[in-house]
Amino acid sequence: MERKNLNIGLFGFGCVGLGLYEVLEQTPSLNARIKRICVKSRDKQRPLPQEAFTFNASELLEDEEINTIVELIDDSDAAFAIVRQAMQKGKAVVTANKKMIAEHFEELIALQVEYGVPLLYEAACCASIPIIRNLEEYYDTDLLESVGGIVNGSTNYILTKTALENKSYPEALQEAQALGYAESNPALDVGGFDAKFKLLILIAHAFGLVVRPEQIFNLGIDNLGELELAYAREKGYKIKLIAHAERNADGRIAALVVPKFVREEEKLYSVDEVYNGIQTKSRLSDVQFFVGKGAGAYPTASAVISDISALSYGYKYEYKKLNKEDQLIPVEEIFLKVFLRHDLAYGFEFKRYFDDISESYVNQDSGYIIGTISLANLQEIRSREHAETSVVLFEVLKESLVEDGSW
Ligand code: HSE
Repeated sequence: MERKNLNIGLFGFGCVGLGLYEVLEQTPSLNARIKRICVKSRDKQRPLPQEAFTFNASELLEDEEINTIVELIDDSDAAFAIVRQAMQKGKAVVTANKKMIAEHFEELIALQVEYGVPLLYEAACCASIPIIRNLEEYYDTDLLESVGGIVNGSTNYILTKTALENKSYPEALQEAQALGYAESNPALDVGGFDAKFKLLILIAHAFGLVVRPEQIFNLGIDNLGELELAYAREKGYKIKLIAHAERNADGRIAALVVPKFVREEEKLYSVDEVYNGIQTKSRLSDVQFFVGKGAGAYPTASAVISDISALSYGYKYEYKKLNKEDQLIPVEEIFLKVFLRHDLAYGFEFKRYFDDISESYVNQDSGYIIGTISLANLQEIRSREHAETSVVLFEVLKESLVEDGSW
C-alpha cells in the first residue's frame, strides 16, 4: 500500500515536539515532514532556525499545502480551537492533549463525522502503550469486562520515589517535572485529573460510552499521609494511583480514579517509576496486561509517530462501539472497600457512612476506618470542607465483574 505524503503543521515545540521533530528527521521512510511550527513564546531559545517558526496559527491553518496538523500544546482551550479549525479545513489531526479530548469528546467525534477527517490521539493515553488502537480494533465490546490500571507516569514516579527511595514528596514531584513527565500544572497529575481524562478516553474506545469528566469521581495522591503509608508498609502493599472502569452484566459502567493498595501478587505491583500498566479483562482471553513508559518526550513522540504513520495509510477511528444507550452506574450503587483516614474530630461521625467496618483506629490527632462504603457516601465525606481526609481503595465490591478482585 502506498503511503500518503504528509505535510505537517506542528503546534507546540516543548519536549514532545522536539522529540517528534528529531525522530521525523531521522525517518525519511515515513514520508512525513514538518513544514512549519507554531509556538507561543517569542523569547525561548530553540534549536532550529527562526524561519522554522511562526507565532501566527493561521499561517499553518490557512496553508493549503499542510494536510496534517500535529497539536502538542498545553492549553486545552487553545488546542480545541486549533483542532476544530484544522478539521473544518479538512486537515487530519494528531493530538496528545487528553484534557482537550476529555472536555470536548462529543464535539470532536461529531467534527470527524461532519468533515470526514481523521483525528488520532494514541499519545494522549499512556504514551508509549498502544492501547487505544487495541481497544478500538481488537476487542469486541461484548467481551470486554474491564479496563484500567496505572495511567499517569508522574504520580507513579512520585509514589515510587517516596515509597522505595524515601524521597520527599516535593523533591519527587520536582524530579517528575524536570524529567518532562508532569503537566505544566502538576495539580492535574497529583489530583488524579489527568488519569481521569485518560480513563474517559479508554472508556469510549473500550465500551463505546462517552462521558463528561465531571461524571467520574477522582482522587489523587496529593492527600496521602503517614497513617496510610505506614499501613501499606506494614502489610507489604504499594500504593498506586489507579484508573478503573468495568462493565456489569446489564452493560452499565462503573468508573473511578483513586489511590489503591496493591498486593505483591498483583501485576501492577511491579509497575514502578514512569511506567504505566493497563489491564484488560475479557470473557475469552481473561486478563491481559500492557506495560510501557507512560510519559516523557520519546515515549510520547513514539505514539505521535505511530499515529502519523497510521494516517499516511488512511487510518481513522471508526467508533464502532459508540452506543447512546449505555450508561454509568450511579454512585449509590457502587460499593468500595476503603481505608479512610480522618481528623480525630470526625471519626465517630464518618463511621455512620459505612455499611460495615472491619477495623478502626485512632491516635491523638487522627484515625482511620477500614470498611465498605458506597461511592455516593464517599463523595459526601470528601465534600466536607473542614474535614481533612484521605482515601485508599482495597477493592470495588458488588458491581464488580472481576471476581478475584485482582486488577
Ligand atoms: N503528565 C502525564 C503523566 C504525561 O505523567 O502521565 C503523559 O500523559
